Amino acid sequence: MTPDANGALTPQQKRLVRESLESLREYSTSLTKLFYGRLFELAPQVRGLFKTSLEEQSRKLLDMLVTIVEALDHFEELRPRLAELGAKHVTYGARPEHYDVLRIALLWAITQALEQEFDRDTKAAWDQLLHAVSAAMLEGERITPA
Ligand code: HEM
Repeated sequence: MTPDANGALTPQQKRLVRESLESLREYSTSLTKLFYGRLFELAPQVRGLFKTSLEEQSRKLLDMLVTIVEALDHFEELRPRLAELGAKHVTYGARPEHYDVLRIALLWAITQALEQEFDRDTKAAWDQLLHAVSAAMLEGERITPA
């Protein structure tokens, strides 16, 4: 089964993402440390963009991921909110090329946290989802004068 044209996930991919999110919530503290550690290793220049505490920041990121996963069956309805979030990110100083780094760092961190549970198919499903989310956020960047 292939994802539809909107970059949405197959029913099987949605199931894998939902199940792994449950586990991720249990590992949120270590996930955060792993994620930001990796992000700043891959892109040290973005460290200075984060002004609030990383605990606070990672809570917001995880909450947003929960919102996204809960809305998997109606991703289209989430688009305006993601575009708005993307527009906000322009003011934070996030650049389009940072989205790939963030996705890579997050997938790496989830792999470390969940180990075998984060198998190839689950990773591919998250990769697909993060691509769709990044694209929707970047759509917001595009329509906002930087
Ligand atoms: C999947 C993509 C992303 C999601 C879901 C996401 C989510 C969020 C959320 C929910 C917030 C909090 C917004 C608020 O307080 O209203 C935030 C803030 C922020 N994000 Fe992202 N983000 C993403 C990508 C990025 C990227 C690529 C960067 C670039 C390095 C970035 C840097 C930041 C910064 C600097 C802040 C503000 C931190 C502060 O207040 O100190 N984000 N993000």
